[in-house]
Amino acid sequence: MTETTQSAATPAGIIAKIVPPPAEHPPREYGRAFAPANIALSKYWGKRISALNVPANSSVSISLGHLGARTHISTLKAGDRDEIILNGTRLAPDSDIALRTASFLEEFRRAGYNYFFRLSSETNLPIGAGLASSAAAFAALVLALDDLFAWNLDRRRASILARLGSGSAARSVYTGFVVWHAGTAPDGMDSYAEPLDSDWPELALGLVIVSSRRKHIGSRSGMEHTRSTSPLYAAWVKQAESDFQTICDALRKKDLTKLGETAEANALMMHAAMLAARPPIIYWSPATLRVIQQVHRLRREEQIPIYFTIDAGPNVKLIFEAQQSAAVKRVFPESEIILPGGEPAP
Ligand code: DP6
Repeated sequence: MTETTQSAATPAGIIAKIVPPPAEHPPREYGRAFAPANIALSKYWGKRISALNVPANSSVSISLGHLGARTHISTLKAGDRDEIILNGTRLAPDSDIALRTASFLEEFRRAGYNYFFRLSSETNLPIGAGLASSAAAFAALVLALDDLFAWNLDRRRASILARLGSGSAARSVYTGFVVWHAGTAPDGMDSYAEPLDSDWPELALGLVIVSSRRKHIGSRSGMEHTRSTSPLYAAWVKQAESDFQTICDALRKKDLTKLGETAEANALMMHAAMLAARPPIIYWSPATLRVIQQVHRLRREEQIPIYFTIDAGPNVKLIFEAQQSAAVKRVFPESEIILPGGEPAP
């Protein structure tokens, strides 16, 4: 088992380091913000410091542009719990999302921002697409809090706060291509995201939804189980750091072959580490494998440059350039094509 570091730092301690003193920042009437979802091209699957969601390796993602979460937040004048509304429906306080959101807000209370909140979030992500909505949600929440209390945080610090809610949320405070540094500091203060300098508006994603059922094991416990039981975990982390470098380089050079081949291998190795966990974690369904084989057949027999990546679920995300959109639609008519650089964030 590969150990994680025990850090003396706590989420509330990190928040207190980042945000200004509460007395100087009374809440305004409300705060609001939008944050996009993101898809990792080289993945995060394992933590160096669990309590702070500090990753074992760096990762790089592409933002989904206008697809994400829009959040409106205000403080409650009365009441002793947070009120959380998602897409117009008030969540039961004991639901997973409400509990996770309230425990994140609790860290701000511990850091001195002693309020309960009314939070309303709308997402325009395709329903059941298996897209990690928690990344967009926690990033939008942090940016909405920043607006509510007029902290005026820079994106780097907002990224660290978003990471405390969900690791991949660190990457969702930006649009475009985003790197998230693993860092080495014991308190994770050097583990933040920043934009990658690459201009590749033709790069497209295709969502192939093979199942919209809820996954049986979430990312948080899945990656922890992989870290603590998979004999392939240490090799995965080492390779993931090297894939990260290769993919950043490919993005800067707009080298689709290098990007696609490395992103595919990276996702497959992440799933290999999960398969080797004891007991194994198997997110794929037979349909997942059929999509993989179709993509390989298209490259081999039709010389169509399409690649894939897969996150913690059975659905497949295709990676290609916009001029291949017709081919993608022909072979995967049910897919949804997203051109992240094509539309401005709202
Ligand atoms: C497979 O960010 O959801 O999407 O930090 O525990 O909240 P926590 O995990 P989360 O994990 C995302 C895993 C992934 C890969 C990635 O986005 O890099």
